[in-house]
Amino acid sequence: MFRFAHLSDPHLPLPDVRMRELLSKRMTGWLSWRYRRRRIHAPDALAAAVTDLRRAAPDHVAVTGDIANISTAAEFRQAAAWLRELGRPEDVTLVPGNHDAYVPVPWATSQGLWGAYMAGDGAAPPASRDDFPLLRRRGCVAFIGLSTALPRAPLIATGEVGAAQLARFEAMMRDLRDLCRVVLIHHPPQIGGASRHKELSDQRAVREAIARVGADLVLHGHMHRTMLGRIESPQGPVPVLGVASTSAHPASKYGAGGYNMIGVERDPDGGWRFDVEVRSIRPDLSGCDTGNRFHLRSPTPAVAA
Ligand SMILES: [Fe+2]
Repeated sequence: MFRFAHLSDPHLPLPDVRMRELLSKRMTGWLSWRYRRRRIHAPDALAAAVTDLRRAAPDHVAVTGDIANISTAAEFRQAAAWLRELGRPEDVTLVPGNHDAYVPVPWATSQGLWGAYMAGDGAAPPASRDDFPLLRRRGCVAFIGLSTALPRAPLIATGEVGAAQLARFEAMMRDLRDLCRVVLIHHPPQIGGASRHKELSDQRAVREAIARVGADLVLHGHMHRTMLGRIESPQGPVPVLGVASTSAHPASKYGAGGYNMIGVERDPDGGWRFDVEVRSIRPDLSGCDTGNRFHLRSPTPAVAA
């Protein structure tokens, strides 16, 4: 069985910020970090989750964004070092979140530092959002990574795939029908996935695209909670799974963070079967326990007449 870990929203501790860096939307984000978020996203909680993940030795790791908070240059450098600790670029697939594009910043000194983790198979690292989706084949799985990360006005945490990326996504998905197609996206695309100021703006178009081309599993972050949703398709409901923040302290308002371990195997009745183990950070931060365990199934492909 192919096993991969899904983690999201680590929101690494905010390094020292220069005053001039705060003369923008960053000021609201900095205040939010200083007075609220730094008590939620704890480095020792994150370390507990990552240690447990390493011990579990998955075949691959998928990260659905929000490594940063307010997109300062120091945050991108810190995140690049954290990614190197997490694993080799070929073993870790990353898509960005809204906090990784908090304000307009030059690509080369921001997400560009994470390029090797966002490069598709045989492709150069993305040079902008225009190079998404990324595609990586690992075992029986095709990971298709979308970028929803765009700078927005203060207090707005919405995201967008955009028509051009969505067209590339549909074309890509059509060529991958023999593999288990796992879509990675920071913002939840299902109906009711997020409130107005946090939602995926073009969620309806994304759902319609998925209904047209199908998908086996959609994984998202952004909400800092384990969430299960669905997207209707002609072949049946596509499961949509959201993961808790990997750094949420067990005493935080979100409860214990962690990551999901997902086993993939062919379903004898057609399609794919997913064994999902929610790994939750222990109260004493000594590692993780299994907080929940359940199975999901992909839509079953129509039998050719
Ligand atoms: Fe987010």
